[in-house]
Amino acid sequence: MKVLVVGGGGREHAICWKLKQSPRVTEHAICWKLKQSPRVTELYCAPGNGGIAEIATCVPIKATDVPAMVEYAKKEQFDLVFVAPDDPLALGMVDKMEEAGLRAFGPHANAAIVEASKAFSKELMKKYNIPTAKYQTFTNQDEAISYLETQEMPIVIKADGLALGKGVIIAQTLEEAKKAVISMMSEGVFGKSGSTVVIEECMVGPEMTLLAFADGKTVIPMITSRDHKRAYDHDEGLNTGGMGAVTPGADLTPEEEKKIYDTIVEPTIKALAAEERPFKGVIYFGLMLTKDGAKVVEYNARFGDPECQAILPRMENDLMELVDACIDGTLDQVDLKWKPGCSCVVVMASGGYPEKYDKGYEITGIEDCGHLVFQAGTALKDGKLVTSGGRVLCVYADGETMDEAIDSAYEGVKKISFEKAHYRTDIGRTLS
Ligand code: AMP
Ligand code: GLY
Repeated sequence: MKVLVVGGGGREHAICWKLKQSPRVTEHAICWKLKQSPRVTELYCAPGNGGIAEIATCVPIKATDVPAMVEYAKKEQFDLVFVAPDDPLALGMVDKMEEAGLRAFGPHANAAIVEASKAFSKELMKKYNIPTAKYQTFTNQDEAISYLETQEMPIVIKADGLALGKGVIIAQTLEEAKKAVISMMSEGVFGKSGSTVVIEECMVGPEMTLLAFADGKTVIPMITSRDHKRAYDHDEGLNTGGMGAVTPGADLTPEEEKKIYDTIVEPTIKALAAEERPFKGVIYFGLMLTKDGAKVVEYNARFGDPECQAILPRMENDLMELVDACIDGTLDQVDLKWKPGCSCVVVMASGGYPEKYDKGYEITGIEDCGHLVFQAGTALKDGKLVTSGGRVLCVYADGETMDEAIDSAYEGVKKISFEKAHYRTDIGRTLS
């Protein structure tokens, strides 16, 4: 099979790596240049990155350039196009690939809207009684401000559209809340994404990510995970795309897991089917484990990054088996299996991320660190691997216990260096 993966971050590196694995070889995860997948014989990635270039042919097409991607996929006659990031999904890349007669993995735009519009997903949850924070949606700034004056603080203000995970402000005071609304609605801090805002109750509790494969009718959860969004230790600094992740994401009893499946996971897939927006692909449930039970913080329409990098190496099935089942509607026949234990990924970022940072520093130590390393903001320049983005790479490790997995990942991190590298030292050790 000739496969094209769309995207160029750590998540896409993990997807490419996993697509090249045979089933049930994850105990050899370290041999990450294995090329023995019975299904994927030719692998391409657009745009890819310096690490992906070692295992796939990278093609310089922007992930958001839907017409160019479709043209290229048609010309190359791919057997499958795997659309991994949120933007092309929201732009309808899967729909457009199918219209061009190609087979594509990922939700159609009308289902990817669960991520692309917070207002849509909040309404869906309200209509189908899926537990989430109480909220109101506003398109008028004065009304939003009057509403704030009637609410208790802290309160959460969200830009409606995609904002790289940064369009959420938790305001501690009324003053802060008003400022947030004005910055989104009048000052356009998040561009068009902020012309509609969602104002919601502030929930309290540990957070957890639950990813699931869905084929429109059947939904199968993966192992749970937890990412760390803030830039610095002890949950300080700005929100980032994610500075690290662990699996499992929480110590849940089988009863608690079943309750999440019965009240959130299955009802969401059923609700989308009932709305004639069948969800096929990977759905991401961002959950908060409140004292009243798990509630949805957000949906995403794709693998999380870096959760994906912590999860896929523990998956024993051939990823292509799941991809086919999601597209063909045969997920009910799949037996999804996981390597037991725990895993941890630690992100190494460019100093200054998520704000201003420099690029172009040489990266050393990856080959000899003895760990799986998924690259994100890297590029090859004059034969050398250099930094080219905010989140540069992440180091993966697993172990029988969480401590083992975490300690092992940090051993790997210490062997890799580039100028001004920044990483959190408490991944897996705090709750956020
Ligand atoms: P989101 O982009 O919706 O996932 O929000 C980003 C982060 O903001 C979440 O991971 C939570 O830490 C926090 N957050 C979002 N909504 C709420 C809420 N209603 N209550 C408390 N924290 C929230
Ligand atoms: N790690 C959070 C996300 O992918 O949205």
